[in-house]
Amino acid sequence: MKAKYIYYIFFTISFIWSCSPKQSYTIKSFFFDGVPNPFLEEVAILEDSSQLSLAGTNNDIATVMVPKEEFILHEPYKTRDCSSCHDRNQMGKLKLPTPNLCNLCHEDFTITFPVVHGPVVSGSCSQCHEPHQSKLKSLLKQPTQELCIACHETHFSEENRIHKSVSEKICTECHDPHGGKDRFLLESGICYKCHTDFESKFKILHGPVYTQSCFLCHGTHASKTEKLLIKPVNELCLGCHESNAIFSGSYHIGAEKAECTSCHSPHGGSDFKLLLN
Ligand code: HEC
Ligand code: HEC
Ligand code: HEC
Ligand code: HEC
Ligand code: HEC
Ligand code: HEC
Ligand code: HEC
Ligand code: HEC
Ligand code: HEC
Repeated sequence: MKAKYIYYIFFTISFIWSCSPKQSYTIKSFFFDGVPNPFLEEVAILEDSSQLSLAGTNNDIATVMVPKEEFILHEPYKTRDCSSCHDRNQMGKLKLPTPNLCNLCHEDFTITFPVVHGPVVSGSCSQCHEPHQSKLKSLLKQPTQELCIACHETHFSEENRIHKSVSEKICTECHDPHGGKDRFLLESGICYKCHTDFESKFKILHGPVYTQSCFLCHGTHASKTEKLLIKPVNELCLGCHESNAIFSGSYHIGAEKAECTSCHSPHGGSDFKLLLN
């Protein structure tokens, strides 16, 4: 018991000794009440670690002015409600592990979403978020795309056609970082956020468009074919429609040589034949 306590003190002192004024402030203010917040206008600097013995009285701590940095502060950190997350009686240990700690105030994503993103399932909120402050919105540790690419390889070779929103690496335009309705963490109708809404354009929708399975025909991130198709048009259509049945129809005589899309819309039409006007 005693050895553990001494270890904690030793650890804390050596940690404070070695860190920057800002970190030092953060730690110090944890032990001393009333230390001014450096992110607003001034910072208090411990002259040496022996001042730790001043716990409870902070009169002797020097204060200097520092430029105000543009941090976005987490609300409970800004209001200095440190004890909403830390237990002062236990050397500042967290009251609960993440995500339970975060779920004290935030929605529990495992309830919100039918499918939850890997690192959220494992409660690793801190893989992506800072607990106190960040220069990025949503308290992110890195810009979104860098976060995603750190764990997910995006190996699109140069000659591939890359979907514009992917090449600009705005992953969260389509994927929710926490979860979604399906395993790909997508919201329904996500493509219609930027593209023509086929549901309002066509009276009748083509089967896979009706089910919003755009990816059965389009490589959403990238592809080698025009219009981000996963295969050349006719090969694509004949992957689902039996060629013998198709080419036995009188209206299809000679159609092998044409692209299916020279007569049919791949997305929908005014009736079930999906014919272009
Ligand atoms: C929203 C919850 C939350 C609030 C509020 C909060 N902290 Fe923290 N704090 C954390 C988490 C999470 C960690 C990371 C702990 C870990 O990685 O084990 C942490 C780590 C720390 C550390 C360890 C060093 C570091 O920066 O990583 C110190 C010191 C600290 N907090 C001080 C404070 C002080 C002082 C306040 C109030 C001004 C505060 N915290 C408010 C959640 C919080
Ligand atoms: C004591 C309550 C409390 C706890 C605990 C807490 N938060 Fe927050 N958090 C807030 C409040 C209040 C806001 C601001 C209002 C809002 O956006 O909901 C906020 C905002 C946020 C934001 C959005 C910030 C922005 O700029 O848009 C993120 C991200 C966030 N919290 C992550 C976390 C994570 C991760 C944890 C766990 C380590 C956590 N919070 C724990 C109260 C809390
Ligand atoms: C894979 C990275 C990642 C993980 C893990 C993660 N988040 Fe986020 N979180 C984000 C991103 C990115 C945003 C910004 C979303 C946006 O801009 O649309 C965000 C936004 C938020 C917000 C702001 C409001 C909102 O819903 O957009 C809160 C609160 C939040 N996260 C809490 C959490 C909590 C709590 C956990 C752990 C259970 C967690 N996050 C885990 C990446 C992550
Ligand atoms: C800390 C590592 C980590 C980070 C950061 C991360 N992911 Fe993930 N992601 C995972 C893990 C683990 C899985 C689940 C395992 C799997 O299915 O590949 C997963 C699964 C996914 C899936 C589903 C994959 C599938 O095949 O079902 C998508 C989509 C996804 N992540 C997108 C993102 C996006 C977008 C971001 C950035 C906001 C991101 N990820 C950031 C680790 C991460
Ligand atoms: C235009 C919307 C869109 C954007 C932007 C987008 N994705 Fe996806 N992503 C999808 C769709 C749809 C799927 C599932 C079907 C498929 O594979 O095409 C998917 C599948 C995935 C998967 C699982 C399958 C695989 O390919 O491994 C991962 C991981 C993933 N995306 C990560 C990312 C990352 C990282 C980014 C940012 C660089 C990103 N996505 C940007 C729409 C998008
Ligand atoms: C954030 C906006 C955005 C979202 C969401 C989005 N796209 Fe795109 N998409 C674009 C942009 C921008 C282009 C390039 C437009 C152009 O060059 O005319 C594009 C191009 C395309 C193209 C190629 C068009 C061509 O003429 O080569 C296809 C196919 C496509 N998107 C399918 C999808 C699918 C499927 C989804 C849903 C998984 C989706 N998009 C979601 C923005 C988006
Ligand atoms: C059955 C296969 C198939 C499905 C499913 C499909 N598409 Fe397409 N899409 C195509 C083909 C083929 C083209 C090329 C059309 C052409 O060249 O005239 C295309 C072209 C596009 C284009 C380029 C602009 C245009 O209209 O020509 C966009 C954007 C697009 N699709 C979006 C989507 C979205 C969003 C979905 C899901 C809601 C979707 N597609 C589902 C086959 C499909
Ligand atoms: C992923 C599978 C899939 C692909 C790829 C596909 N279709 Fe379909 N198609 C369907 C389904 C499912 C239906 C609706 C059920 C049915 O009537 O057979 C359908 C229906 C049709 C119909 C209406 C049939 C009728 O009897 O009313 C036409 C026309 C059609 N598709 C043309 C095409 C063309 C042209 C392409 C290529 C651009 C294509 N399909 C690619 C699955 C597919
Ligand atoms: C020269 C124009 C033309 C071309 C090219 C064409 N079709 Fe058609 N297709 C039609 C017409 C016209 C009908 C409607 C006949 C009717 O009214 O019943 C039709 C009907 C269909 C039907 C529904 C009836 C049936 O036979 O099952 C399907 C499915 C279909 N086409 C698929 C395709 C596919 C796949 C291709 C490409 C390999 C293709 N079509 C190429 C003109 C064309």
